[in-house]
Amino acid sequence: MEAQLESLRTEALLTVAACTDEAQVEQLRIRYLGRGGELTALSDRMREVSKEDKPKIGKLLNETRSAVTAALDERRALMVAAHEARAFDGLDVTLPGASFPVGALHPITQLMDRATGIFRRMGFALADGPDIETEWHCFDALNTPADHPARNEQDTFYMPDGRLLRTHTSSVQIRTLERVAPPVRIIAPGAAYRRDEVDATHLAQFNQMEGLYVDEGVTLADLRGTLEFFFRELFGNDAKFRFRPHFFPFTEPSFEVDIQTAALGGGRWLEIAGCGMVDPAVFEAVNLRRGDRGLDPERHSGFAFGFGLDRLAMIMAGVPDIRLFTDSDQRFLSQF
Ligand code: DAH
Repeated sequence: MEAQLESLRTEALLTVAACTDEAQVEQLRIRYLGRGGELTALSDRMREVSKEDKPKIGKLLNETRSAVTAALDERRALMVAAHEARAFDGLDVTLPGASFPVGALHPITQLMDRATGIFRRMGFALADGPDIETEWHCFDALNTPADHPARNEQDTFYMPDGRLLRTHTSSVQIRTLERVAPPVRIIAPGAAYRRDEVDATHLAQFNQMEGLYVDEGVTLADLRGTLEFFFRELFGNDAKFRFRPHFFPFTEPSFEVDIQTAALGGGRWLEIAGCGMVDPAVFEAVNLRRGDRGLDPERHSGFAFGFGLDRLAMIMAGVPDIRLFTDSDQRFLSQF
């Protein structure tokens, strides 16, 4: 038994030392130390050893097991290290790392999200309406008569069934008032369409943001305060504003908003939005459709506004050509 243990140990240590990969080491571990392994078989024979030899043989058995275990562990660690070293073979760790380009939100979407965030903090909810709209929602209900140029076929995309691609997001004002009663405070970002010749400042599809606030006692001062707060959040506190009288069919009085700010290059006044106090005719059109007097021009008043997001993004980022936003050129888009 003593001799057997000695020779097993010598053989095991030699075989382990000759291993060239991890799998071989594991095979040897099973061969010697496994449940049916050679060393296990020898320890089963301890029963046959005489009483006086037991301590000596027992000790030798333990020593052999530890020696073989240690050899296996050591060989395995060596194999793992060699394996890892091979994996890094030919790798130049001084090279700059490979970068994986990740996508980002489109600049117009970024602006839309930012604008939405500012209005939401002022209590405006997000509203929506269809891009393919009825003439009534897009024009009639907005007090825009049949002979208004916006309704001309040259200016608007009509469907065969008489519906049209909305020329502005103002239709969402009507969609909202049809469904809910005041107080109403919504913004509606979304696409608008016009039969414009595409050039550096026009696209046939562009983006607007509409706003509407209807309640009792809403005044022009509320409109002014809301828009000035919004644009100051966007452009900074030094922004100056000019509310220039204008005409829109659905507001009375109506204004165009001009802004002057260092962020936009100082001196020049830039027109950035249209707005006004909701014309009572709009309330009456919705009442007629609803069949109630939910909007009472004697009690309710409201303001509305709308601005072009693409235009705003152009001004903010100094982009000279609106088509850059739709060209999907990575060299342009990756700057945002
Ligand atoms: N709908 C107008 C346009 O597309 C913008 C606008 C002007 C919206 C005045 C409004 C408003 O809500 O009150 O040019």
